[in-house]
Amino acid sequence: MIAVSARPQIVALQLSDRIAGTPAATWLSAAEQALTARFRHAGRRAEFVAGRIALKRAWLQAGRSALRIHSAEILGESAPSAARDFEALPDADGRPRSRHGGGSAPLAVSIAHAAGWAAAACDDGPIGIDIVDTAEPAAIPADLPWLAGVPAAARGRLQSLLWGLREAAVKAGLAGSPRAWELGEVPAVPLLPAAELIRRWPAERTCCALELDLAGRRVPAAFVPLSARILLTIVSAHAPASPL
Ligand SMILES: CC(C)(COP(=O)(O)OP(=O)(O)OC[C@H]1O[C@@H](n2cnc3c(N)ncnc32)[C@H](O)[C@@H]1OP(=O)(O)O)[C@@H](O)C(=O)NCCC(=O)NCCS
Repeated sequence: MIAVSARPQIVALQLSDRIAGTPAATWLSAAEQALTARFRHAGRRAEFVAGRIALKRAWLQAGRSALRIHSAEILGESAPSAARDFEALPDADGRPRSRHGGGSAPLAVSIAHAAGWAAAACDDGPIGIDIVDTAEPAAIPADLPWLAGVPAAARGRLQSLLWGLREAAVKAGLAGSPRAWELGEVPAVPLLPAAELIRRWPAERTCCALELDLAGRRVPAAFVPLSARILLTIVSAHAPASPL
């Protein structure tokens, strides 16, 4: 029997064009394959499949909480048969809900894909993840008090980080369901001052744990630079994962 993950298990993997091949299909349940077939755009199809592969790999991870980061080669590997028994199907809001063996599973799951990456997480409490490209502008006001005193050269990076953390909080269900254009207003900021965060900025593939002030409530969070530009953000009701 395969142990069902407990505490955050997170997998990030690089996307590739080869994802449409047969090994990818071995990861998906019949319902997930039917959803995949509905996407007309090959890029969106690839993101959907890669997100599911990342999720099932996270679910299959045994042992202590972990974050694993893979290159695209891993997309060519076939799935163990158990992978198809665990599936994530969207609810009426598009939020992925986990199912195991045809029934609802007690695990919260979250999926993100952007900028050539896909990632997924599962946990036994609320969890949300997001991927942001720090080279793209983020709709976070530059005059936000948390950003005061931050050098202009570092501000864009922090705006992207904050956007990603807010998206992750929304996906975790911890910050309501604002409209997409209201995300910049989600009342979440790291407790650590922005200037200090810049000083402690982690190396690539290194996890930086944070606490968010979310409307007066302390919520554990973390982020990991997947590359020089791309950040994976995590908001979890539990302590964030430490990468291996
Ligand atoms: C919905 C939303 C979370 C998607 O984020 P995004 O940056 O466009 O895309 P990402 O790659 O980060 O995430 C996509 C994944 O988010 C997940 N997702 C979609 N809707 C979600 C929701 N309401 N809650 C949590 N997760 C959701 C899905 O798993 C999706 O991947 P999949 O379709 O391949 O399974 C984002 O648009 C958002 O935060 N919107 C504001 C909230 C909103 O509009 N709510 C709708 C009710 S008004």
